[in-house]
Amino acid sequence: MSQAISGFSKLSKEEKINWIAKEYFSNGKEAISIIKQYWNNDEKLQQLHDEFIENTISNFYLPMGIAPNFLINGKYYSVPMVIEESSVVAAAAKAAKFWSTRGGFKTTILGTEKIGQVHFLYKGDFKKLNAFFLSIKPKFFTETESITKNMQKRGGGILDIELVDKTHDLENYFQLHATFETKDSMGANFINSCLEQFAKTLTNEAQNNDDFNQEEKNITIVMSILSNYVPNCIVRAEVSCKVEDLVEKKIDNPNEFADKFVQAVKIAEVEPYRAVTHNKGIMNGIDSVVLATGNDFRAVEAGVHAYASKNGKYSSLSHAKIENGIFTFWMEIPLALGTVGGLTSLHPLVKIALEILEKPSAQELMQIIAATGLAQNFAALRSLTTTGIQEGHMKMHINNILNQYQATKEERIVVAKHFENNTISHASVVELIENLRK
Ligand code: MEV
Repeated sequence: MSQAISGFSKLSKEEKINWIAKEYFSNGKEAISIIKQYWNNDEKLQQLHDEFIENTISNFYLPMGIAPNFLINGKYYSVPMVIEESSVVAAAAKAAKFWSTRGGFKTTILGTEKIGQVHFLYKGDFKKLNAFFLSIKPKFFTETESITKNMQKRGGGILDIELVDKTHDLENYFQLHATFETKDSMGANFINSCLEQFAKTLTNEAQNNDDFNQEEKNITIVMSILSNYVPNCIVRAEVSCKVEDLVEKKIDNPNEFADKFVQAVKIAEVEPYRAVTHNKGIMNGIDSVVLATGNDFRAVEAGVHAYASKNGKYSSLSHAKIENGIFTFWMEIPLALGTVGGLTSLHPLVKIALEILEKPSAQELMQIIAATGLAQNFAALRSLTTTGIQEGHMKMHINNILNQYQATKEERIVVAKHFENNTISHASVVELIENLRK
């Protein structure tokens, strides 16, 4: 059993690895060699990666792929995606190609407002607090000028600050609820710095406010932090075409396909168990581009799923309809993204990804990512409502099994041929490889 360790972060990288190898592996040498196999030969590049986080021991590779032929608002994009799930890039590429010959994706930005809050406790009269807040409100702006100067030059800054009484939810609980425009940066650091200054201004001014009694003067700041729930930072993506134009290789009856597709979406709208998986499929596309472009996928995930529950019940993010013979499929999602700052200027592959996307603004990236999410959802629903998901999934998964069995070139050819006409399952692939080797 492993021992606790103090001062782990102070050990050198080599010492950390040795400790891990000793504590957790019977064959420590082999573990060390695997860990080091993933180091980059370029020492500077390795150091860059080491310093992204604390206690780095190695790099964890994920594949980076490209889904080409994304026609968005009349412009073609090749979308870089970072993901481990075998079928995702193939599905996005297929859906992108499909829609590129049917008008492409139409996307629009519906808002770009970010949110941050100072959560504090105040024991006293709300009217007094509100009068005090209004009297010092300009100071929140002036005392953050050094933080907001550069952002203002880029057209962003603090939009508004409100005082919110939350005492009906929690005793003595109030908020400063602030809204921000952060242009091409995700804005987390900017927002948090502003909020921490708001908190200082609030407590200092309260201490000096003669209208407050001593208890009212002693405002307690609990925390100051941005919100990853951004219901006013929204992008809409849509595809549409005549139902009859949905025809392709696996869709010989477009009316039946469109009806079933719309039903599948309606099921996800009313049934949370299905909605979660439906939205997970959307996030396959979204997360992979969010990762490739150096954005914070946890923030996006948290915000998107909260948005999916905005009406009190978890529901589908996408919607579909057939009206006057036109099939329309769309979604509106919140995406707080950046194309400058953070990892976007540090990680060499993120820079490459952004160059492949022709250096998009944050708003353009929101639109690309929303289109990718919708494409992914379309691909999943098309498979689910026609052939079933396993056909495509297992085709891609065969490669993983072949790699696991270190299959030779010849074995791969035989396996590919065999499964052209046979149902693929993990067991059947394994059985065939084992039979070939007998
Ligand atoms: C798998 O990663 C995603 C799907 O389950 C999405 C869906 O069911 O819509 C195929």
